[in-house]
Amino acid sequence: MPGVIDVIEAKRDGNALTFSQINEIVVGYTDGIIPDYQMSSFLMAVYLRGMNDEEAISLTKAMLETGDSIDLSNIPGPKLDKHSTGGVGDKISLAFVPILAAAGVSIAKMSGRGLGHSGGTLDKLESITGFQVKLSVTEIVRQVSEIGGCICAQTESIVPADKKMYALRDVTGTVESIPLIAASIMSKKVAGGADTILIDVKVGKGAFVKDLTQARRLSNLMRTIGAAFDKNVICELTPMDAPIGQAVGNLMEVVEATRLLQKDPVDHRFLELVTELANNALFLCKSSANAKDIIASGSAWNKFIEIVEAQGGDINSIARWNDVAPIAQIVSTQTGNIAAIDAEIIGRASLQLGAGRAIKEEHVDPLAGIWLNSVVGTSVSKGDTLATLYGTPRSSLDSLVAAISSAYVFGQCPAVPAPIILESIPVGALQ
Ligand code: URA
Repeated sequence: MPGVIDVIEAKRDGNALTFSQINEIVVGYTDGIIPDYQMSSFLMAVYLRGMNDEEAISLTKAMLETGDSIDLSNIPGPKLDKHSTGGVGDKISLAFVPILAAAGVSIAKMSGRGLGHSGGTLDKLESITGFQVKLSVTEIVRQVSEIGGCICAQTESIVPADKKMYALRDVTGTVESIPLIAASIMSKKVAGGADTILIDVKVGKGAFVKDLTQARRLSNLMRTIGAAFDKNVICELTPMDAPIGQAVGNLMEVVEATRLLQKDPVDHRFLELVTELANNALFLCKSSANAKDIIASGSAWNKFIEIVEAQGGDINSIARWNDVAPIAQIVSTQTGNIAAIDAEIIGRASLQLGAGRAIKEEHVDPLAGIWLNSVVGTSVSKGDTLATLYGTPRSSLDSLVAAISSAYVFGQCPAVPAPIILESIPVGALQ
């Protein structure tokens, strides 16, 4: 297709593209007319040359228009969506959605699966026996209007361009491009139908955005794109150097999230992160409710049960975690303070235990993962348990034990712990 070659060459040479040029590529690729090799070349040209704001908005629009959008406009009250750019042990949505729904904010949360070292909310939910993540657009709207919330897979009809483009980016070294990430996330969020969108931009070793400068660029671009579609986008930059909370697996992360909702003791940074994000979201939706009060009243836990049951899940199946036997424990060889835990190493080891997939087709073991008995900022004695391993190793258990041990860094803990939220963009929106 000569038109396609012209567009690839124009981007290769650093020129700005028009909406119609971008649309031709996106529609042609989604419809199977443009082959993978030409799309790969286009994506690499964008990766190397970047896109200006107008082009990123055009890319989002072209991707969005390849599919359907969810219309939540008939549901009264505020409609919010949340997205995380992905991390290790990130079970925040499991607690966040029922808290918001219990406070009267409608939330249709479309989540993804784990790929690489970061986990996916859908894999976690599917560890609940019977839980259906596949809902049609009609079912999503019905469930949100009836009980205020759902957590489901992106339907086939929503931004089909992203599904194909993301799979290609994943194998062509073009994931870490700010305009491609921003258009990928925002096309799905705009299609989700909410008015307000809170994006948790993970920053650090365990995230694909490694530093604050990149995180700020991504956040500002997502806000610019959101404004073009009349959406209020707030980005919360949160640390992803160490895993979130103690559980890095599927059922075990559901267990940790449900402990939070049931007011059982959990890692205090996990509790603070969930409640700070939820309170900021409530503020944006002009609600005076408070996340900790909603948890304390039991209404967030009841809402979680309602969502699980509405999606066919057996809430009692979560208790089977109590019978899962560990395969190994990692014991501290020294006395000292845990100054850091490398999230990426833990994420990769959890995947090797069966909790994630290195390739899309791989089976996920709902019971596999790593429970971090000792977390950053705590003191341990020689012989204390650092971590407990579950699952069936895909590589040698000895090498996994060595890797997980190496993720633990002993040293002086900072006098002031890292903030729960590094930065909100725009600054001042939450005051
Ligand atoms: N999450 C997405 O949905 N898309 C990206 O490109 C990166 C993270």
